[in-house]
Amino acid sequence: MTLRLFIPADAAALAVGAEEVASALQTAAARQKAAVDIIRTGSRGLHWLEPMIEAQTPAGRVAYGPVTPGDADGLLAAILGDTAHPLRQGLTEDIPWLKRQTRLTFARCGIVDPRSLQDYRAHGGCKGLQRALSLGPAAIVEELAQSGLRGRGGAGFPTGIKWRTVAQTQAPQKYIVCNADEGDSGTFADRMIMEGDPFVLIEGMVIAGIAVGATKGYIYIRSEYPHAVASMEAAIAAARRGGLLGNPIAQSAYSFDVEVRVGAGAYVCGEETSLLESLEGKRGQVRAKPPLPAHKGLFGRPTVINNVLSFASVPVIMDNGAAFYRDFGVGKSRGTMPIQLAGNIKCSGLFETAFGITLGELVDEIGGGTRSGRPVRAVQVGGPLGAYFPRALFDTPFDYEAFAARDGLIGHGGIVVFDDTVDMAKQARFALEFCAIESCGKCTPCRIGSARGVETIDRIMRDEKRAANTEVLEDLCNTMKFGSLCALGGFTPYPVMSALTHFPEDFGARPHLQAAE
Ligand SMILES: Cc1cc2nc3c(=O)[nH]c(=O)nc-3n(C[C@H](O)[C@H](O)[C@H](O)COP(=O)(O)O)c2cc1C
Ligand code: SF4
Repeated sequence: MTLRLFIPADAAALAVGAEEVASALQTAAARQKAAVDIIRTGSRGLHWLEPMIEAQTPAGRVAYGPVTPGDADGLLAAILGDTAHPLRQGLTEDIPWLKRQTRLTFARCGIVDPRSLQDYRAHGGCKGLQRALSLGPAAIVEELAQSGLRGRGGAGFPTGIKWRTVAQTQAPQKYIVCNADEGDSGTFADRMIMEGDPFVLIEGMVIAGIAVGATKGYIYIRSEYPHAVASMEAAIAAARRGGLLGNPIAQSAYSFDVEVRVGAGAYVCGEETSLLESLEGKRGQVRAKPPLPAHKGLFGRPTVINNVLSFASVPVIMDNGAAFYRDFGVGKSRGTMPIQLAGNIKCSGLFETAFGITLGELVDEIGGGTRSGRPVRAVQVGGPLGAYFPRALFDTPFDYEAFAARDGLIGHGGIVVFDDTVDMAKQARFALEFCAIESCGKCTPCRIGSARGVETIDRIMRDEKRAANTEVLEDLCNTMKFGSLCALGGFTPYPVMSALTHFPEDFGARPHLQAAE
């Protein structure tokens, strides 16, 4: 019987040798005269076990990791002989880290062959589209609104309201744009979906097109994601061949097509209006709002612009209904969030769970603390514009409002962990420097404020008139927060002020560092 081996071709797995492992296993199979079928998948998201390979057994898939090419011969013999192996993690579905998750958006990631539409359909793909077609445009929008889905790109705006606005705006042409710029530090969920389950994104965009009356979509992918670009291109070609894209789609009365566009490496091009400028071939500079993209977006036409995860959550909502999805979560944060654990953390990776889990559970229990083994001192949540949380705030539930109430944001769901050797004054300086480098230059508080902020923090760090300069810094942050045109300038004060508020000792004599040294 042919043994089926699943090996990720996800960029994170490739970075730690998945390609070499795949070819070593191929060679081992030839040497051992074993019939082996290697299927390349996305990643399951247990990054500390990558490259993690899985073997099909009668009881289910069994995981092994982290595998090196040197393990190939012994590992294959153990799999074929069903004997013990030190890298064996047991049945994949029973690994506690995975078992504790609620995978709705990531249900298929790491399981299916991302190049096969047939495999996608065999694992429940396209069922959301089928139901959406039976509902029709108005009911799709209502279903989405009822589900409580909020944009996963950062701002958390209700997706149903956005779609309704575009649906109600009359125009000869409308567009669906997917924001796959994924510029936040410590985030990789969009990439994982595009590399591991690209058809779910296409299906979500097709449903959006039907809902609002758009026939054309674009996926704007950051240039640093060549594997995601290749994966999406291949999936789009397969979707065209298989009738998921085209004129008409799925033997329906609707037509829809998608194209990939690659960005040129600016953080601000993740901001939706700047992204639209870039898509139009212009310099990525933020547009003043109004008009909203929903009224005048790409090429001046009504445009739905959503994050990868927002679109990828639509099929499961359509398939199972709004009530199913909104049953997960707390307060106004409904459904599940693919949380990304990164930085100095023992068990890093993708953890999808219902909103409401606490920050402490995520970092200490699921993440297992730091990789360095030192105490966790701070975590930054929500990318480079997110606040730093100290341990004292680890009881904060992961939901939009709870984080906002503590002057933070969950953003795109990235959590970056730091141990007790971190210098928070340097982190605050970095936030301002990042803003100065990435600023699109359109408004003064951000363009000038960030540069002056770096200078002011430098004075504080040099102990020059510390009290007076701290006051200037706070004042500057206030001006940026309330006077900036977009969230790049408007949110940079969050990491700065949270560092100053929660770690004031680092802006003075830095006693904790002396203790740690
Ligand atoms: C500076 C800046 C960078 C952003 N980067 C991204 C990004 O990389 N990906 C993303 O989806 N949204 C990003 N956003 C948020 C988008 O402006 C917008 O809110 C999002 O695309 C809307 O989709 P959603 O409602 O599905 O989240 C960024 C916003 C700002 C201000
Ligand atoms: S806040 Fe910064 S990035 Fe945003 S519009 Fe103003 S200058 Fe541009």
